[in-house]
Amino acid sequence: TDAFPLDIGEWRAGIPMVFADFAVGNELAGTPGAVVRLKVDATLGLGTSHNVIAETRFGDSRNVVMVGAHLDSVPEGPGINDNGSGSAAILETALQMKHLPVRNKVRFAFWAAEELGLLGSDQYVNELTQEQRDRIRLYLNFDMIASPNYAYKLYDGDDSDGVGSPAGPPGSAEIEQRLKAFFTGRGLPTVGTDFDGRSDYGPFIAVGIPAGGIFTGAEGAKTAEEAALFGGTADVAYDVCYHQACDTIANPNMTALDVNADAIADSVARYAFNTSAIPE
Ligand code: PHE
Ligand code: ZN
Ligand code: ZN
Ligand code: ZN
Repeated sequence: TDAFPLDIGEWRAGIPMVFADFAVGNELAGTPGAVVRLKVDATLGLGTSHNVIAETRFGDSRNVVMVGAHLDSVPEGPGINDNGSGSAAILETALQMKHLPVRNKVRFAFWAAEELGLLGSDQYVNELTQEQRDRIRLYLNFDMIASPNYAYKLYDGDDSDGVGSPAGPPGSAEIEQRLKAFFTGRGLPTVGTDFDGRSDYGPFIAVGIPAGGIFTGAEGAKTAEEAALFGGTADVAYDVCYHQACDTIANPNMTALDVNADAIADSVARYAFNTSAIPE
């Protein structure tokens, strides 16, 4: 069903109201407004967690634009760059969309249990019918977008950046080029990064759904070339607090967060209006 009781035009800003105004639910729930329970392997002894999914009431349901970020963190720390950054940016995009016309259906996912092995996104994709998968025209993923020693990395869906991962499903190249155009328009460089499934886009590309996203780096070290392009410090991790207790509110780079939040809003708004660049 596409009849979920969420109208982006009716959302109101204001922290205490945000989730009250979100009617959460998705195609798996059966009942509009229901929350889908995430089944976590009982042998892990971790109990139950939940994906939180909300979509526009209106818009063409044959062209679903899906946008996701994982909401969980590792137990070692609060997970503000990983992944409060992506979660906050997509939430703000959703809130700002009340000012926009929406031609396509836009579905936001706040994934559970990414850190346990993409459990939330994996369950979601695997429980969709083929028809439901076919209606998802693209998936955009945002996991770590404000690393303190950041680089603007785009998932290499067009396999043109020599990073070694395979090209994504058809349409992934167009998504990478769309994101890249935003940075180019601001006079900012980007580099490619592995499109190997190490975040919640993995289950989507595994079933052939085109995907893309932005990443500012995790435990890897910034190269000298990247330091020349983006500033920051070569031979130091993009995020020295990756999966550590120090990934607090003091960790994110606010310039990267601001630029990437704008890039997300730009791409979501464009695809909400027109997905014709993505092959059927
Ligand atoms: N998924 C990784 C994590 O949450 C981080 C990551 C994001 C790695 C994107 C590569 C690309 O720890
Ligand atoms: Zn992580
Ligand atoms: Zn992450
Ligand atoms: Zn590329």
